[in-house]
Amino acid sequence: MISQILSKYRYLWPASDINNIKEWSTSADNLFFERTMPEKDQELSIDSRWPAFFPSSICVVTTSNGSRIALERSVGATIVNRFPYVIALSFCRQHLSERHYDRKLFTEIIEENESVAVQFLPPGPSFDMVMDAISTIPDENVHQRISGSDLSFRKAVTNTAPVFSDAYMVYEASLVKPGKDFNGNQIFGSPWVDVGSHRLYFFEVNAIQLRQDIAEGKSQICWRSLPAWEPISEKQGYLTTDDSAVQKKGYQKGYTADYRFPGSKTTAFESDNIENCMAVKHLPPLPEDQIEVDNDRARWPCFFPSSLSFVTTLAEEDVPNMMPCGSTMVVSRQPMTIAICIAYAAINERYSPRATLDFIRRTGKFGCGVPFIHENIISAIQYTGNISLTDDPEKLQHAGLKWELTKYAPALSALPIHYECRVVDEIRLGTHSMFLGEVRGIRVRSDVTPDNPLEWFPLAEVRGT
Ligand SMILES: Cc1cc2nc3c(=O)[nH]c(=O)nc-3n(C[C@H](O)[C@H](O)[C@H](O)COP(=O)(O)O)c2cc1C
Repeated sequence: MISQILSKYRYLWPASDINNIKEWSTSADNLFFERTMPEKDQELSIDSRWPAFFPSSICVVTTSNGSRIALERSVGATIVNRFPYVIALSFCRQHLSERHYDRKLFTEIIEENESVAVQFLPPGPSFDMVMDAISTIPDENVHQRISGSDLSFRKAVTNTAPVFSDAYMVYEASLVKPGKDFNGNQIFGSPWVDVGSHRLYFFEVNAIQLRQDIAEGKSQICWRSLPAWEPISEKQGYLTTDDSAVQKKGYQKGYTADYRFPGSKTTAFESDNIENCMAVKHLPPLPEDQIEVDNDRARWPCFFPSSLSFVTTLAEEDVPNMMPCGSTMVVSRQPMTIAICIAYAAINERYSPRATLDFIRRTGKFGCGVPFIHENIISAIQYTGNISLTDDPEKLQHAGLKWELTKYAPALSALPIHYECRVVDEIRLGTHSMFLGEVRGIRVRSDVTPDNPLEWFPLAEVRGT
């Protein structure tokens, strides 16, 4: 149930008829709108909003080098690796439009300071004041934004970044240092990589702060991890989950789009101490000391708002595969580039090499679909997210998903939006490999319209229990 306070942050896509946008055309069977990518720079200078929707959360990031403090918003911050525990943040470094401009001073201060506080504020006045300060104070005066927000703050626990008193959750992190993965391969030769118009930073989490009432279970974080949408046309091939297959394979890992933290099915937040009414957990500096082999203990130590994509690949001619991928983020605006993080390290059942890895490496392509809240889609997530193609060569059929082959990868007909991606880089991060996929085409179902839009909330909410 969406509360009154959250409804203000409701985002609907599309805002206008895709039919009327000249870069889009209709497929021969009238079932989809399609467009090729990348866009022309000139197109973006007029309107640089994403050409199609991808569900991303919003958080705020602060940093300080002792003398200069800075504040910026981040769309789509994502946990991209488990051991070490790494957050990726991407900031624009080119001027594309008034919306997408060079965050020069902010990124300069990050690179000097090498650490950040990634913060989540509840929807409401304090979040609005922070957003207002960010949008009205330009990057060259980025150091004035914190005072411009009129909110009180204190210093982070492990670095000098300012932390808003109203933040309910804070991830303190520092730029990754060169190291080795569990197979002895070199990782993190550089703590950032330039991807098109953006610079993508990798930060290792040093400490997590969670409001004490949440840590004690007196309040809960409520997060809707998928967009809501209502398919109208059934011509795209509708969803029927093969329950017998699901039961036969006996999947274990549940999934719900209505996530509550803490809850009976989540990990308890194991804090080390309480400071400023926040429960604080410190993470050991070395991945060897962080690693938890036990499947349950290897879960994320705390909530982090993430969405989900359906990553499709072609295993062999006519053999499609799909795996749900929570670690998916849009990392560059021009060319639009999507990063997906796929486990390659053999740690336990939860983190083991995915069949998808080989297919992406071999074909240099993948598809990225946007799932939505629907009973059969949730069943398909539970099935495909627990069963590898290695165990079930007919995984998609058994998940009730229909597909068509495109030039890039299989496209699932039931999904409202599908991105076709060409791999431009692979970055090993320790347990997961990040594939950077430049978007070469987008396909949208023709029943995605302003009258029947996808609905998304980029913020989580905190409610008393
Ligand atoms: C909600 C959810 C999110 C997931 N996110 C990821 C992810 O970000 N990266 C990853 O490697 N595996 C992720 N998985 C696990 C894979 O989807 C799963 O291991 C899948 O069965 C791999 O399929 P494959 O071996 O056929 O490639 C996720 C699973 C679920 C249910």
